[in-house]
Amino acid sequence: MNDILPTESIYWQWVEQHIRQLVKANGYGEIRTPVLEMTGVFTDAIGETTDIVEKEMYTFHDRNGDSLSLRPEGTASCVRAGIEHGLFYNQTQRLWYLGPMFRHERPQKGRYRQFYQFGAEAYGFPGADIEAELLILCRDFLQRIGLSDATLQINNIGGLAERQRYRQALQTYFRDHFNELDDDSKQRLEKNPLRILDSKNPALDHVKQHAPTMQDYLLPETAEHFAQLQEYLTAANIPYTINPHLVRGLDYYTGLVFEWVTDRIGTQGTICAGGRYDNLIATHGGKATPAVGFAAGMERLLLLLQDNPSLKNEIEHRHQPDIYMIMVGEAAKVLGLRLSSEWRQQFPRLTIINHCGEGNLKSQFKKADKSAAKFAIILGEDELRDNTITIKPLRGGEQETIAFADIHRYLHTKIHS
Ligand code: HAM
Repeated sequence: MNDILPTESIYWQWVEQHIRQLVKANGYGEIRTPVLEMTGVFTDAIGETTDIVEKEMYTFHDRNGDSLSLRPEGTASCVRAGIEHGLFYNQTQRLWYLGPMFRHERPQKGRYRQFYQFGAEAYGFPGADIEAELLILCRDFLQRIGLSDATLQINNIGGLAERQRYRQALQTYFRDHFNELDDDSKQRLEKNPLRILDSKNPALDHVKQHAPTMQDYLLPETAEHFAQLQEYLTAANIPYTINPHLVRGLDYYTGLVFEWVTDRIGTQGTICAGGRYDNLIATHGGKATPAVGFAAGMERLLLLLQDNPSLKNEIEHRHQPDIYMIMVGEAAKVLGLRLSSEWRQQFPRLTIINHCGEGNLKSQFKKADKSAAKFAIILGEDELRDNTITIKPLRGGEQETIAFADIHRYLHTKIHS
């Protein structure tokens, strides 16, 4: 679990700003759910035999003896909240969230026990159109934050009946190759054979390669739905590959599953992932509602964008303060604190740092320089006497002395613009 310090949080804020712009532009509304839920919310949705539920949840009993868990992901909570508040009755919903999730995994680069997800979920839309909308949203998001090299993998894992037939075919195939499986896969064979396809063990590549693929078990209407999505993606200029081994690590999926991947963070290369989960709401006691969504891991996005020096520079530059207030003497401080507050009211985007504490002109200038501010505004004896301020650009340029009456115009044209 990480602390995010101010030198780091500027990048988070930058990404969050893009997220907020983009979800608003697509008509998604923000949902904030608690970080703790009754354990059943997750075990029922994600699946008893998944890694998340079997090994990774932070679960404990509270003082009433109820079993609670820290949320390992956002989808189950959205479904719980949507049912509880009647959001799915005869209406569609476009929701998004951003917040911490918790999984007790082995920490490594790009994998943490508390990590943040940005996610979006759409309810009440059965078609390939909403799937395309979400994938276009992902592409636009990744592009805006400078990660357009991530590639999209898609698969269709069918509905329950299709998957049942496929599951049997897989079991037959893997039983015939039992000795080639690793211990994990042997265990998965009876309970959850699709998950063998998800194994990251390269020793299994060969046996996986010749396994039956889901595509052969899809009903014609499912295949058509999948083809329709591909048509939308091509028209929207989104390259993709169909990965028949993509099954995802959560049990609630039906139909489309997808992952955006990069090879720049080693094995933790999935930066954004999701799919359809049309059965989840009905199995949780709600009215049957089609559903699809995705979540992106913020830490992985941030690792990637901090690899990009020009983007890093741009973000750092945006966070430089505009003005450092140098105030020499008590009378200057009285006036300076008042003026800086007035300027912040007039120009809400302006960042003004007041010099607080002791210090002569020279030492205050040093602080101003260290703050990386673009301008220093100096209030000293001369300025107080003449009703002026002195403005010195700290990154080159001539110092100017300005009458009080002209300050507003100067700030407006030279600093705020
Ligand atoms: P997920 O694949 O478990 O899906 O997680 C989505 C993303 O969260 C991953 O691709 C990764 O970027 C990030 N992530 C997961 N675990 C960690 C970790 N331990 N440390 C850092 N980042 C991590 C879901 O959670 C689904 N709820 C996605 C979804 C939404 N499906 C439908 N709607």
